[in-house]
Amino acid sequence: MSMDFRTWMKATQDLCEQALSEFIPTSSTVPQRLHEAMRYAALDGGKRVRPLLVFAAGRLFNAPEELLRRAAAAVEMIHAYSLVHDDMPCMDDDALRRGKPTVHVKYDEASALLVGDALQAQAFIVLSEGAGDASTKLAMVRVLAQASGSLGMCGGQAIDLASVGLALNRAELEQMHRLKTGALLRAAVLLGAMSGKTLSTSEIEALDVYSAAIGLAFQVVDDILDATADSATLGKTAGKDAADNKPTYVSLLGLDASKELAIQLCKDAHGALLPFGPQAQYLHDLADLIVQRQA
Ligand code: IPE
Ligand code: IPE
Ligand code: MG
Ligand code: MG
Ligand code: MG
Repeated sequence: MSMDFRTWMKATQDLCEQALSEFIPTSSTVPQRLHEAMRYAALDGGKRVRPLLVFAAGRLFNAPEELLRRAAAAVEMIHAYSLVHDDMPCMDDDALRRGKPTVHVKYDEASALLVGDALQAQAFIVLSEGAGDASTKLAMVRVLAQASGSLGMCGGQAIDLASVGLALNRAELEQMHRLKTGALLRAAVLLGAMSGKTLSTSEIEALDVYSAAIGLAFQVVDDILDATADSATLGKTAGKDAADNKPTYVSLLGLDASKELAIQLCKDAHGALLPFGPQAQYLHDLADLIVQRQA
């Protein structure tokens, strides 16, 4: 009998917090201010959806906890770096993140740039060190690097910035969302599963169907919440997409159709997990969480 989802979620979030705290140099390490700012950006906040996906996917193949801990911390460091840069004046120019002032506001712009750079490097240090088979770890480094780069998150961010004020069609919007958000969520799922075994082509295909569905759903819901929730609930500035003239699912389809799409994507995600049986229960529950979340 597996642990209740909420109990598992809390325990996994705590584990992730400990891992991040262990893997980011302490704030007394020189240069202190940079390390303090890295810890400010990565610790104590966020839903930790990507680490939860790593651990939930790890359960499919009984992956060892040490590998999962490193993979979870690494993907969350990439995510935290992407948020620090996303909030900078040259990108979305946001002052609030995870209920706190953004890094460039609390520290300064140059620090925010370096925090992102250093968190990214730290992610790959963490993933490449520690126990585990060298060829598996090399494959994991490659998966995370591909998801982060110009054909993944950075590419999506470039499309996002180039699309301000434009009316993207549905295929273009989907492409942007898949890259800026979906790529890293897919990497989280794959890293968790790869920590357990070398994946077969059919396993990768099934996980890709799941990841594509939750990846798109995640950003569709992010767009919905930007338009419907308040800043206090979100811990980030609400209403920013419309104010900045960003193309979103809400601006393209409207609220109701966006909500229906998210529900359909959740069903697609659930369907993709069927071959994995009961071991996929937490991945199933995470798809629900991604679509039903209020923040
Ligand atoms: C926000 O991500 C940015 C997107 C990719 C949409 P999250 O909603 O996962 O942010 P945190 O980690 O919980 O703060
Ligand atoms: C950011 O998308 C995605 C990444 C950071 C890669 P958004 O700009 O929509 O994220 P929020 O709404 O600021 O969290
Ligand atoms: Mg953005
Ligand atoms: Mg933003
Ligand atoms: Mg957003």
